[in-house]
Amino acid sequence: MANEVKLHSKVRDLLYKLTGITLADNKELMITNRLQKLRTKVGYNGDLEHLLTAIERGEYQTEFINSFTTNKTHFFRELFHFDDMKDRALPEIFQKQNSVSIYCSASSTGEEPYSIAMTLLTAQKENNKRNMNSSIVATDIDTDVLHFARNGVYRFRTSNKDFPAWAHPRDFFKRRADSKNESEFLIKVKDEVKRLLEFKQMNLSDSSYPFRDGEFDIVFCRNVLIYFNQDDQNKILKRLFKVLKMGGTLYLGHSENPLDLAPYVKRMGQNIFVKTRELH
Ligand SMILES: C[S@@+](CC[C@H](N)C(=O)[O-])C[C@H]1O[C@@H](n2cnc3c(N)ncnc32)[C@H](O)[C@@H]1O
Repeated sequence: MANEVKLHSKVRDLLYKLTGITLADNKELMITNRLQKLRTKVGYNGDLEHLLTAIERGEYQTEFINSFTTNKTHFFRELFHFDDMKDRALPEIFQKQNSVSIYCSASSTGEEPYSIAMTLLTAQKENNKRNMNSSIVATDIDTDVLHFARNGVYRFRTSNKDFPAWAHPRDFFKRRADSKNESEFLIKVKDEVKRLLEFKQMNLSDSSYPFRDGEFDIVFCRNVLIYFNQDDQNKILKRLFKVLKMGGTLYLGHSENPLDLAPYVKRMGQNIFVKTRELH
């Protein structure tokens, strides 16, 4: 028992050091399960204690990080953000400039950045702005989900209710030829959608981000701050705020809030914030 407590505390310390993620107190079972899975994945023969020592020395760190991230996501999650982006944020940007730059800061398996791309293409079409120079940067710390996202192949059920009426999957995905099942099959993101996106590995806990100040018109940071303590959430929010343009929009997840940024933003809707003042 004492050994297990020590093991769990080592995992927490290591995970915090490598990613900034703070695991809640009730995650003991999850820690043990994930460590065991990790041991099988990397083919390690020793006990979990020795595996952790190896990770502390620098071995298997990527696999360790990938095992402890939570990647739950789906297309058009919190749809009202995409509606707001299509009907308010993007038309305003289209009036001022000929390019749009968007940052998706915890992109997981790709459903969120591809939903952003579908929203952008739809808004460009609706506003007669097809030839804009648009780009989306999508980052995550987990190399496995980045690999999956770059591949852009998803299992699709015809009963799927994630897609809004204005985004038909057939406009943005090709059905894989080898799919025989009529109600469930694989779909692949079309090249014209993929072309908008660049996937990169990045740790939100890094002290600075590889972007210019005010580089992005829109920043998505959804359902990731919840894994950090409040002090670190504030640090991340401030770094994201630096790369967001004045007047740009920040979308946060349903149980997240702008914390120290509150005096510098205007609330436009449920977890939708527009930057109104620079933070110095
Ligand atoms: C629950 S998913 C949310 C995905 C998407 N934003 C959404 O709302 O559906 C959280 C993602 O944050 C990523 N993540 C966790 N810690 C991170 C860190 N320190 N830096 C960058 N990404 C991180 C995880 O790998 C995971 O893919």
